[in-house]
Amino acid sequence: MDKAQQDALKKAAGIEAARLIENGMIAGLGTGSTVKFLVDELGRRVKEEGLEFTGVTTSRRTQEQAESYGIKIVDVDDVDHIDITIDGADEVDSNFNGIKGGGAALLWEKIVATNSNKIVWIVDESKVVNTIGAFPLPVEVIPFGAGHVIKKFESRGYKPTLRLDASGKEVRTDESNFVVDLHLDLIEHPQALADDLITTVGVVEHGLFLNMVDTVIVGNPDGPRVMT
Ligand code: 5RP
Repeated sequence: MDKAQQDALKKAAGIEAARLIENGMIAGLGTGSTVKFLVDELGRRVKEEGLEFTGVTTSRRTQEQAESYGIKIVDVDDVDHIDITIDGADEVDSNFNGIKGGGAALLWEKIVATNSNKIVWIVDESKVVNTIGAFPLPVEVIPFGAGHVIKKFESRGYKPTLRLDASGKEVRTDESNFVVDLHLDLIEHPQALADDLITTVGVVEHGLFLNMVDTVIVGNPDGPRVMT
């Protein structure tokens, strides 16, 4: 699948998911290129249909895009609940184990997700896999002592790489942390791995989202398919 085809599937999934947002809702808005299509469609609905809702965003990037459409965005601590969160994902299996964080927003994404009544992911069909792990697993790490965390990951066989930007500088998350990507190929025991990662001092969060999502909307050439 080339990029244009993949973008068309992402867009179809984003447009389908935008239908789930109703007047008066508090909606979590994820991060990434698929969510960008979702926010474009929500912006269109705000302008053309008078849709009114409040958004809680999972990154500064999404906040800027949503506000450019006049969507009201509030801080996660300014709401007592989130009705629904719609986000992208890097991989998902049939048990709804997923990897997120390709866009380095995993920490805010997980905070918003865990405070949401319903979670929907929007993906193109290439992201639905039998077993997760081909996509490098992002781990958000405190910069202080990050070198030691990376060495520990190496000794456990996790094949870590520190994520760098195009100019060779460390990528920083919206909380100014580093991202370490684990090149695992296959994750056969995701819960055991999640437990190991989250109990490693210096790790803030990891990109394993295990059985958290309620619905996955999959863009495919025959039209969006809903997995529940
Ligand atoms: C950002 C994420 C994204 O949702 C994930 O990387 C999917 O991105 P895209 O829609 O661009 O493929 O987890 O941290």
